[in-house]
Formats: sequence, structure tokens, C-alpha cells
Amino acid sequence: MASHQENRGVIFSGMRPTGPLHLGNYLGALQNWVGLQQDYDCIYCAVDIHALTTIETSEESAQIQPNIQAMVLDWLAAGIDPQRSIVFVQSHVPEVMTLHALLSMVTPMGWLLRVPTFKEKVRQMDETEESVNYGLVGYPVLQTADIILYKADTVPVGQDQVPHLELAREIVRRFNNRYGDTFPEPQAKLTEDPLIVGLDGRQKMSKSLDNHLELAATPEETARRVMTAFTDPQRITRDIPGRPEVCNVYSLHKILSPANEVSAVYDECTTAQRGCVDCKRHLASSINNYLEELRERRREYQQRPDYVRDVLADGANRARAIARDTIEEVYQKMGLA
Ligand code: TRP
Ligand code: SF4
Repeated sequence: MASHQENRGVIFSGMRPTGPLHLGNYLGALQNWVGLQQDYDCIYCAVDIHALTTIETSEESAQIQPNIQAMVLDWLAAGIDPQRSIVFVQSHVPEVMTLHALLSMVTPMGWLLRVPTFKEKVRQMDETEESVNYGLVGYPVLQTADIILYKADTVPVGQDQVPHLELAREIVRRFNNRYGDTFPEPQAKLTEDPLIVGLDGRQKMSKSLDNHLELAATPEETARRVMTAFTDPQRITRDIPGRPEVCNVYSLHKILSPANEVSAVYDECTTAQRGCVDCKRHLASSINNYLEELRERRREYQQRPDYVRDVLADGANRARAIARDTIEEVYQKMGLA
């Protein structure tokens, strides 16, 4: 295994294991993760302990392993290279929970209660700040532990994670102030979020809204789902010219179809020469072409028994070697050694 180079920045990022990824996950995050491997030492983590913060039943827990498996297959199929990057599962390196507990000693409650994602989650889960799990309150502390356990300096995330990164920096500053310079202050690296809208044409593509297109779907399944996409609502019949600028099928064409096809869609839609059914058929084939290689690689990896398991075991070993050193240093500094 290639060892990490001294002079490169260290990237850490994590995804909660929600199962097979969709086009929005790919275009919004995963594609970017793949590219960053060129310039950084990258550590990519399936954050299963974070998943537990919002899990309420044993049925949901039973999904964690298959979800990790499916998600990591997507990562590898997309081009995350486990020779170059460390790919692992959060709970396989339990040192993160040690660091989480220790960081909680330098994190004021007020900071956590003010985090916008926390307030939102409480509302979403139909809970109150009094009734939610202690674990959910500490979500950003665990995220901080994820990042700084590996002394990562750069964290590719979407806009929604910026408050967590700000908190991470504050926790690091406090720790460094009290115990001496130990951790770099991690910087968010904002991925330009192309905002992939789902098949409903209105909301961000997401699995929970069931408006998504799964990367690993078959071409037929993809086509079937694309045919259900909402288009320009004013175009009730085929002879009414359409408005591509309000149609999500068109915005997906812009991302996934070749340039000549995109301008053909525009011209033929606005002059009522192209019907929506036909337009969606073309989009489905663009998506299927775009994902063909990824799907092929995914099938290959899926057929190798134990491949994902071996990748994750190796990743955990490499991550753990770094984690142990950090914990030793923290024990020293906090007076535990
Ligand atoms: N909170 C992140 C999310 O919901 C996932 C995450 C956990 C993460 N730990 C991380 C992201 C560390 C970046 C770095 O998307
Ligand atoms: Fe949208 Fe295509 Fe229909 Fe135009 S023809 S409204 S771009 S689906």
C-alpha cells in the first residue's frame, strides 16, 4: 500500500451509510472526492456511528451493514482508489469515540445547542431539546473527532456542513489553547454544489423524497424512473411550446448530455418539435451512457467475494495506526498518560 506523503494536504470526509447512492450524491460530492485524490492524501469514511444518532429501531440498525456495503461499492466504482486513499468505516476505528469523549470536555453545551442542523433535526424528529438523544447533541463533536483524529486540514463538504466545520475549528482552538498546539484548524472546502433537483422537479434529489436516480440501477429501471419526471407544467399537450428553463429534464440534459444534444433539446422544445416523452427517452440514454463504466466496475467488484470487506479492513488498519498516535499524544497532553 502506498504510504501518505508528508507534503500534501490531508483530506477527510464522511458520508452517512444510507445505502446505494444516487445521481445527486455523485454529482454533488462523490465525483469531487474522486478528483481530490490527485492533490491530497484522502481519507474517506462511512460514518456509521453518526447514522446511529437518528436511528430509532432495530430494523433500521439491521440496514447499517448492507447500506455500508452498497455505498462503498459505489465509492469504489466511481473511482475512489483504495490503494491511494484510506477508505474505512468509522466504528472500525474506535479511537474516534475516545477522542469524542475527550473533546466533549472542551465543548460548551451552548455551542452545540446553537447549531442550525441540530435545531432542524430536533424539529424533523418531532422531539424537543430535552427529549433528543445526548448523542445527537454531540453530533458535531463526533464529526470534529473524525477530522482531527487524522489531523486532516481540509474537509470537502456542502454548504449545509459549514456550521459543523466552524464548530470544529472552535473546538480545536479551545483544545490547542488549553493543551498546546496539537491539531490543525480544519478548513471546509466547499464543493460547488450543482443542486441536482429530483424527479419531482421541485426539491433537491434525495432518497427520502423518492425523487432520485440510483447510480446502480439497471438502464431499464433508470429509463422507467426518468419517464415519471415532471416537466414544464404549462406544456399540457405536445403542440404547446415548452420552457426548458423551468424544466428539470432540461437541467439534467445540460449536465449529462453532449452539447449538441442539449441545444437540440432547447430548440426543439421551444418550437414544439420535440415531445416530452421523447425528450425523457433521450435523457435516460444520456444518463445510462454516463453511468455505464461506473456500473460495469461496480458489477465487477460486486462479483469478487470479500472485495469490499478487504478494502475496509485494510483501510481500518491504516486509519487506526494514525489514530493510535493521536490518542497517545492527547492522553499525554490531557494528563491521562
Ligand atoms: N455530517 C456529515 C453529513 O451529514 C457527515 C460527516 C460525518 C462528515 N463526519 C464527517 C463530513 C467528517 C465531513 C467530515 O454529511
Ligand atoms: Fe422539458 Fe424536454 Fe419537455 Fe421541453 S421537451 S418541457 S425540456 S421534457
